[in-house]
Amino acid sequence: MKRMSDYRDMVESEIKSLRLPADRFPGLYKPIYYSLENGGKRLRPILLLMVCDAFGGDPQEAAAAALGIEMFHNFTLLHDDVMDNSALRRGKETVVAKWGINTAILSGDTMLTLASEYMAKVPDDKLRRVLDVFNRTAIGVYEGQQLDMEFENRTDVSLDEYLNMIRLKTSVLLGGACEIGAILGGASDEEARVLYRYGEALGVAFQIQDDYLDIYGDAATFGKPIGSDVLNNKKTFLTLSTLSRGDADASALKSAMSLPAGDLKVRTVRNIFTAAEMPRVCRKAWAEWSGRAIKSLADTSLGKESVAALKGLVEKLIDRKK
Ligand code: IPE
Ligand code: IPE
Ligand code: MG
Ligand code: MG
Ligand code: MG
Repeated sequence: MKRMSDYRDMVESEIKSLRLPADRFPGLYKPIYYSLENGGKRLRPILLLMVCDAFGGDPQEAAAAALGIEMFHNFTLLHDDVMDNSALRRGKETVVAKWGINTAILSGDTMLTLASEYMAKVPDDKLRRVLDVFNRTAIGVYEGQQLDMEFENRTDVSLDEYLNMIRLKTSVLLGGACEIGAILGGASDEEARVLYRYGEALGVAFQIQDDYLDIYGDAATFGKPIGSDVLNNKKTFLTLSTLSRGDADASALKSAMSLPAGDLKVRTVRNIFTAAEMPRVCRKAWAEWSGRAIKSLADTSLGKESVAALKGLVEKLIDRKK
């Protein structure tokens, strides 16, 4: 197994080798380069490459699929920032803020198609299985994003509904990246599904952290606007865990949620979350889901070194600040 930084380097070099006709269609392709070259943790392609390697595959042969999954992820971000009215990502203006909604839609569409194109570069004998997972994954993300939007206008969302929503909008893509990596590494369908579950549990932990950082993160490090979930009336892990207490903090949150969007609302809600011990509750939840991800690895035939690497990745994310 390689180090995580080696997998990341592979992803960066795939992105650098992209040759899109930005001279002929600058309006379409410059935002794509801007999005892809704007940093990002590269978590999904790293997972794909790592899992492929773990099963004894050649990560270099999975490089195009890794680029495809990162392309797909960045496509979802272009559209997500339209839907969430978000002006900042990775510390820079979002595509929608810089070029407008039409560009975010169309450059996003182009990225989705490019993602399919790169996915389809996998070896012929694995093509059908990989595309099946990829397409299923994509639909899951859209379903999750739809629920995320609908929840903005609801006040009766349960924690279970929330978990299902984040499973779809975030976890299926991490799971899908792992499943595709497993297939490319030569795993059986059964083992590939186990790796899907590893990625899925990791994804739940990851999104709970994202919800936490959205309100408690440091803007400069996190690179996204702090408080945006509160301003968008999102149903996050913190909102639903506080409401489920059914106590004074829950009532306070209910009233605070109808405050006009602004700094006061963000500060008020943060204070309520703190009173309701949300930092501790969130940490406990994401530690639990991280633990589930690690446990799922016991159901595979992977060797010690591979298991340690996949476990290490989960542990590395536990204290993430961005
Ligand atoms: C952002 O994903 C969307 C979520 C699922 C929270 P990342 O936090 O992986 O974004 P980048 O690519 O590292 O910026
Ligand atoms: C992430 O949800 C889900 C997708 C981008 C598909 P968020 O809306 O919380 O992601 P960020 O916080 O904007 O990155
Ligand atoms: Mg969103
Ligand atoms: Mg968003
Ligand atoms: Mg978020």
